[in-house]
Amino acid sequence: MVSPVADKLKWNGVADHLPPESVIFGCSQVMQAVAEKVRRVTASNIPVLIQGESGTGKEIIARLLHERSPWRDGPLVKVNCPAIPQTLLESELFGYEKGAFTGAYDHKLGRVEQAHRGTLFLDEIAELEPHLQAKFLEVLQDGQFCRIGAQETSRIEARILCATNRDLEAEMESGAFRRDLFYRINVVSIQLPPLRERREDIPQLAHYFLDFYNQAYNRHTTFFSPELMQLLNLHPWPGNIRELENLIKRYVILDSEEAIVSGLQARPQMHPRAQVAPDGSISLKKVTREAVRELEGTIILQALQANQWNRKRAARALNISYRALLYKIKDAGLSTRRLSLASAAAAPAGNGSNLRSTEDRQS
Ligand SMILES: Nc1ncnc2c1ncn2[C@@H]1O[C@H](COP(=O)(O)OP(=O)(O)OP(=O)(O)O)[C@@H](O)[C@H]1O
Ligand SMILES: [Mg+2]
Repeated sequence: MVSPVADKLKWNGVADHLPPESVIFGCSQVMQAVAEKVRRVTASNIPVLIQGESGTGKEIIARLLHERSPWRDGPLVKVNCPAIPQTLLESELFGYEKGAFTGAYDHKLGRVEQAHRGTLFLDEIAELEPHLQAKFLEVLQDGQFCRIGAQETSRIEARILCATNRDLEAEMESGAFRRDLFYRINVVSIQLPPLRERREDIPQLAHYFLDFYNQAYNRHTTFFSPELMQLLNLHPWPGNIRELENLIKRYVILDSEEAIVSGLQARPQMHPRAQVAPDGSISLKKVTREAVRELEGTIILQALQANQWNRKRAARALNISYRALLYKIKDAGLSTRRLSLASAAAAPAGNGSNLRSTEDRQS
C-alpha cells in the first residue's frame, strides 16, 4: 500500500512536502530568531532575501513564506536562475509577443507574469546577468515589465522572494550585482545558519527524516545507535540539511549503519566556504579561521569523549587550561545541551552519569 507520505514524496524527496514548523525551526536559538523574523514578515507582501549555504533550507523558507502570505491561494512560481541558459532566461522570465524573434510563433507568458497575485521566487539571484537585473529592478519598483517584443508594459502584483548562497555584498563590491537591486530585494533578509552552527537541531531533524522515509518507503528501520548519533553530532555537514536528509534516506533504504558510517567519517576535501568568488577573491583569513574553529570543535569533542566527558581531564589531555577549554567549547558552538546529549548517549544503560555530574570530578 502506498502511504500518504509516499504519495506526496513522488520522486522529489521532502522538497515537495513542507515539514512541520517545529522541525523547520528546531530548538536552536539561531533558528528561533529566524522563526521570529518569518512571523513578522508573513502578513505583509514585502520582498524577502533568503541567504544561506547550499542545503540550509532556503527553498523551505520560501515555501513557508508563500503558504503564510496573503496571496497563498495564488501560484508559487520558482525560477532557478542557474538552471536556465542565460540566452533563454529573459524570455522565460518576461515572456514574449508573437513574432518577437525567429521562432516566436505565438505569445508566451513569462514566469513573472505567471506569478501574478502569488509569489515569485527567484532562486540564485546572483546568477542574473546585469541587463536582466535592470529589468527585474523595474518589477520590484512598480510591478512593471515588458514582454520581449511588446510595445506596452505589463504590470503584476506579486510577493517577491529571492535566495542566494553567494555573498551579495561581495558581489556588489566587485560590481557583479547592482546595488539598487540589492537594496530592493533586501528589504528584509533572512540568514539561514549552516547545520554545523545549529547542531542541537540534528537529533530532531534526524528523527524527522527517519520517520518520513520509513513511511515513504514502507520500512521499519529503527533509530540510530548512540555511536551513530554521536557521529552525526560530530560531522561538519558541508552539505547541510540536504546531506543529513540523504544520509538518513540511505540508512532507511539500506537498513545498515555500516553503510553510512564510512561516509560520515570521510572528511570533506575542501571547506565549504573555501570557494573563490566569481571575481577571483577569497578571504584567506576568514576561511582559515572558520576551518580552525571547526577542527578545534571536532578535536575537543573527541577529547571529551575519550575522557568520559570530564572537562577538567579533557583540558589536561589537550594541554590547555580548563578556562581555555570552556572558552573554546563556547567558541566552537558546542552548546552545553549538545554536550549533555552526547554525554548521555555515550553513558552505558543504567549509568546516570552525564556532563554535569562528571565535569568537576577530579580524576
Ligand atoms: N528546516 C528543515 N526541516 C526539514 N527539512 C529541511 C529543512 N531545511 C531543509 N530541509 C530539506 O533539506 C533539503 C535542502 O533544502 P533546500 O532545498 O530548501 O535548501 P537550499 O538552501 O535551497 O539549497 P540550495 O542552495 O542547494 O538550493 C530539502 O530536501 C529540504 O526539504
Ligand atoms: Mg534552493
